[in-house]
This record gives sequence, structure tokens and C-alpha cells, in this order.
Amino acid sequence: HGDFNQKIDYVFKVVLIGDSAVGKSQLLARFARNEFSLDSKATIGVEFQTKTLAIDHKTVKAQIWDTAGQERYRAVTSAYYRGAVGAMLVYDMTKRQSFDHMARWLEELRGHADKNIVIMLIGNKCDLGSLRAVPTEDAQEFAERENLCFMETSALQATNVESAFMTVLKEIY
Ligand code: GTP
Ligand code: MG
Repeated sequence: HGDFNQKIDYVFKVVLIGDSAVGKSQLLARFARNEFSLDSKATIGVEFQTKTLAIDHKTVKAQIWDTAGQERYRAVTSAYYRGAVGAMLVYDMTKRQSFDHMARWLEELRGHADKNIVIMLIGNKCDLGSLRAVPTEDAQEFAERENLCFMETSALQATNVESAFMTVLKEIY
């Protein structure tokens, strides 16, 4: 039982990108295993996790790739983006700089990924509302201009995490 021997209709590769410490790995841990850790270590190289789910009576295997935000720990860029049909562009809503860098991450993404890739802009750590450094409207404006979906999430409180990934996966589908 479970997903052993399950027939997979589609495999969707989705990549996570954004500055170090914005919460990419914890968003993935929350989505794939419903786990969260406050003392998460910086990712080195590339990791991925899969989650099998149903969309429209089809079985979809989401293969979510996670890499280091820190330049020195990043793996070969083109291999990371190869075959990706979705991307989560993550900033930390309490760190203005991580939002200001979104344009650069988007440029790298568009330079390497398929032009039909579905992109979601994510403002993570919305549980830290009192420390907010990026107004929702700024992010909305950027997302509209660049044609991205947008959501604010908290990996800690599990706010909108499922919803953000499912929105991207359904849009791909
Ligand atoms: P790199 O691997 O270096 O690129 O960083 P990352 O983007 O993967 O960040 P990571 O997921 O490791 O999280 C960095 C820190 O932020 C950790 O201490 C996490 O516990 C914390 N964190 C992640 N998501 C949230 C969140 O939604 N709310 C709060 N309060 N903290 C979070
Ligand atoms: Mg990480």
C-alpha cells in the first residue's frame, strides 16, 4: 500500500532559488515531510525530495530541488535548472536585501530554464510580521510586472506552504 508500486503519470521538477537563509530548505521540509527545524544548516550543493500527490485523478510525482543560496556552495547552475518546469523564487520578508536580489535570481532562472517554466514568488517567514521589511504591495507589484504568481508563507507555521507548491504544480499540469 502507500505509494509503492503506484503508477506515476507525471514527474514535475521544481527548483527552489533565493538568497541563503530565506528558508528554502525548510519550505521543502514542510511540504515534503511536514517537518521544520529552527537550526537548519546551510545547504551545500544540491538536494532533492519527492512528494507524490494527486491532481485531477492523475498521480504526480513532484521532484523538488533545493540548492545553496551561498555562491560558494552552489552546484553547476545549468544542471540544476535542466528539465525544471516550475520554480519557487524565495525571499525573506524580514530581509529587504533578499527581496532586492529577486531580480537577479529571476534573470539567472530565465537565462537557464525553459521559457514556459511556471514561477512563484514567495515571501517567507510571514510568522515574523512585526519584523516585516517588504510590504506585500512591493512584492505584488514585482510579481505582476514579471508575470509571476505570488504568496507569503511561513515554513514555521505551515502557512500557505502546501498551497504555494500545489498552485505551481497545478499550473504546470
Ligand atoms: P541556504 O541553504 O543557505 O541557501 O538557506 P535556506 O534558504 O535553505 O534557509 P533554511 O531553510 O536553512 O532556513 C534558514 C533559517 O531560517 C533557519 O534558522 C530556519 O529555521 C529559519 N526559517 C525558515 N523558514 C522560516 C519561517 O517560515 N519562519 C521563521 N521564523 N524562520 C524560518
Ligand atoms: Mg538550504
